[in-house]
Amino acid sequence: MAVDRWGNPLTTVGQEAADRFSDAVLAYLEFRRDTGDKLKALFAADGDMPLAHILRGYFFKLFAVPGLEERARKAVADSEARIAKQGATERERGHVAALAAWAAGDYARTIACWDQILVDHPHDMLALRLGHFTQFYMGQSARVRDSIARVLPYWAGDDPDLPFLHGMYAFGLEECGDYTAAERFGRLAVARHPDDTWSVHAVAHVLEMTGRVREGLSFLDGLERHWSACNNFAYHMWWHRCLYHYELGQYEACLELYDTRVRADKSDEYLDITNAVALLWRLEDRGVAVGDRWVELTTRCETRARDHLMAFPDMHYVMALVAGGKFEAASAMVGAMATLPDDEAHYEQRALRHVGKPLAEAIIAYRRGDFASVIDRMLPIRYGLQPIGGSHAQRDVWVLMLIEAAIRGKRNPLARALLAERLAQRPTSATTWANYADVLEALGDSKQAGAARTKTAELRTA
Ligand SMILES: [Fe+2]
Repeated sequence: MAVDRWGNPLTTVGQEAADRFSDAVLAYLEFRRDTGDKLKALFAADGDMPLAHILRGYFFKLFAVPGLEERARKAVADSEARIAKQGATERERGHVAALAAWAAGDYARTIACWDQILVDHPHDMLALRLGHFTQFYMGQSARVRDSIARVLPYWAGDDPDLPFLHGMYAFGLEECGDYTAAERFGRLAVARHPDDTWSVHAVAHVLEMTGRVREGLSFLDGLERHWSACNNFAYHMWWHRCLYHYELGQYEACLELYDTRVRADKSDEYLDITNAVALLWRLEDRGVAVGDRWVELTTRCETRARDHLMAFPDMHYVMALVAGGKFEAASAMVGAMATLPDDEAHYEQRALRHVGKPLAEAIIAYRRGDFASVIDRMLPIRYGLQPIGGSHAQRDVWVLMLIEAAIRGKRNPLARALLAERLAQRPTSATTWANYADVLEALGDSKQAGAARTKTAELRTA
């Protein structure tokens, strides 16, 4: 029987088609722009391979746009038809079940299918990466980490694809707050395979979360040349670079990268939008004039306002709507969230209903200048935002929103407490120290305010 690059048997016409399958999965792992071409080559080699149809369905789901949902469901039927004709391995049948569950929005069942496949086939790279991605957008950090830990001992130390696992493991560890181990695995992966942008991304997260922003800039300096074949995920990498500049108070650098990289391609792809929205939001809060940059973002988000496919981007659509003055559209999104399914089989919709709705209400209140309402809504939910998905670094924009609401709402003791909390996590954030100095001054503590100002200046000129 033909096998894929990782030794998993495939129901197919021959090894040539199996190799084309491996090419497509490898391109997906590396975020390569030619992933679609690799999929076409796979279909040209064997248009009846069950896993080819399943892979196509997975790719439709990864786009997370309503227009492709029907095509993902059709991919389930197409793969089942091929299996009925020519049979399939148990592993391949597990993938059909996973795709069917994913297409139905039932994340728990989807993850259970991939987990089971990996217990029996720890070298199933596709199940590994898709599980990693989906668990991340469920906000389930421990699962992100453990799904890799479970299979690592099965992989040989000299396996050329081990760095992919180390990079994924690094990201899981980082999201669980184990920054030392995360950095060790992440750097190990980058040293062996610098083209794996996900591993670079894991280290970038460690440097962000531990406040080592200058180190972050120089780390990325040496690796940007590897992103030339990378798809839009490269924009997310540039967004990470902007976060370092932001923490250093280098807002002009952020704006320049916004125009030339982060938002160079004004797409309606959800990750591109979330990068752009979160960056503009941060910059405006620091008093940076962002010009008419919201206009196109608001327009694009209006077209995605009824998606409700993934909670995390939906929150950013609300942000773009209110930033562009479209309060009615934002309120309509919130209204719709209250009517979404409320059961285990609809993970994202349930997250939107229970966590997304109050968060979206806080976002709307913030932009209306009703800071007391922001505080009332955010304080009870701020430790429970993980089901929205995304990383700690991405959800930080709402931590910053709460801090800013406390400052603008003249709730200075609360602002001081929240800033102290953020400084404990990011002691080298010049932007946070500057805010802290202002709040201490407003509270009449000139001595500590002066010390905080000195600290800000030191960090900005270091
Ligand atoms: Fe990230």
